[in-house]
Amino acid sequence: YGDFDFIVVSNRLPVDRVSTDDGESWRRSPGGLVTALAPVMAKADGAWVGWHGAPDEELDEFDHDNMHLLPVPLSASEVELYYEGFSNATLWPLYHDVIAPPEFHRTWWDSYRTVNRRFADAAATMAAKGATVWVQDYQLQLVPQMLRKDRPDLKIGFFNHIPFPPLEIFAQLPWRRNIIEGLLGADLIGFQRPSDASNFLRCVRRFAGHTVRQQQVHVTNEDGVSYVSRAESFPISIDVEQITELAKREDIIERSKQIRKELGDPKTVLLGVDRLDYTKGISHRLKAYGELLQDGKLNVEDASLIQVASPSRERVEQYRLLREEVEGTVGRINGTYDTMGNTAIRYLHHSYPVEEMVALYLAADVMLVTALRDGMNLVAKEYVAARINNTGALVLSEFAGAADQLRQAVLMNPHDIDGLKDSILTAIHMPDRDAQRRMRLMRRQVLQNDVERWSKNFLSALQQGDSEAAQ
Ligand code: G6P
Repeated sequence: YGDFDFIVVSNRLPVDRVSTDDGESWRRSPGGLVTALAPVMAKADGAWVGWHGAPDEELDEFDHDNMHLLPVPLSASEVELYYEGFSNATLWPLYHDVIAPPEFHRTWWDSYRTVNRRFADAAATMAAKGATVWVQDYQLQLVPQMLRKDRPDLKIGFFNHIPFPPLEIFAQLPWRRNIIEGLLGADLIGFQRPSDASNFLRCVRRFAGHTVRQQQVHVTNEDGVSYVSRAESFPISIDVEQITELAKREDIIERSKQIRKELGDPKTVLLGVDRLDYTKGISHRLKAYGELLQDGKLNVEDASLIQVASPSRERVEQYRLLREEVEGTVGRINGTYDTMGNTAIRYLHHSYPVEEMVALYLAADVMLVTALRDGMNLVAKEYVAARINNTGALVLSEFAGAADQLRQAVLMNPHDIDGLKDSILTAIHMPDRDAQRRMRLMRRQVLQNDVERWSKNFLSALQQGDSEAAQ
């Protein structure tokens, strides 16, 4: 047995390597997950198991930020087969409604299994007797069952941050049964939306043949061991305090005004913030905005769109194609509608620190979240949290998990370009009182349900299983 009572396992460690004058060091990466879990780790003798981001490099375990980190090595070929291949060119498109065609390659699957085994072994080495292990996301779906077989003493949780697809789509996966059995190693399997959990349970019935009652699966595994695994939804959220504190900071408010000035002080600033990913509906958004300019419903003196598209998975073919497409469209729209003093789209292929993100949220009258499919979409929640004056409007896709919580957004179907155009105009011309009422209600929702509450809910549901079984 290892020494740690609480272990988080995720594809990436929650730190980034940075070069400083004294050489290299680590910095906590942005993102709510680590914010929510760092305090739990500090209290409970916790450790985090994950890849450190550099291929072909082995690193010793180390401490950072009161967390104990265990880097799992990946070879360059595993990065290609397990990470870029099976995780991001098979599972990612399959789980996001096949927006891009998933590729099925047996060599990718073999590598996925090998790497999942390595993560499971690493977690098993670290875990004290009876420890809780919380596995994160689609890259590691086989880890729960691997762990359960080797370490039946552990309490195992899994959380899927992305959607779980409908049965008719999941059915395409040649290894569908292995994935289902892999996940069912967990005592509790968390999803973003109730529909994700019910999609999963349908797949369990069809492809694994276990008895499902309500949200409980009665599993008997290959070794004849019987237990109950549960599937429920736990919508993730953001670090509300961080965002609201930044939104009140004088220098950040100043920066938001400067951003508007630099854009030529248009009446309306529209904002999109996404990883450059085909699930985000960036092309649909650009098309709708371009048509509004063409129709004369908007003009560049009055409205300007800032589109932040942070670089992502750049070695995966579909991401390269998307970049070309988006940049072509931006070029065409700007070439047609820009004037010397005003630009239609300010396109930024960068990632920014959270301070600059909050300044952008404060600068934007209308936030556009037009995902074709998204597990949650935390940008929508961050925008709402940052609007401390209750001004601004959110245009939000029904296909983002956040639409379950942010009911007062201008909800729309991004495939319907006319509907999207109408939604953008509705948001731009929304009477102040209506906008304030909606934003107030949405802010209440987000402020009451931050990421710390999410992790507490999940972990207490995971422990509850115990007391139910004991009764
Ligand atoms: C999504 C996934 C995460 C992933 C992140 C960034 O949010 O749910 O698991 O870490 O995208 O993608 P990357 O491939 O760079 O880790």
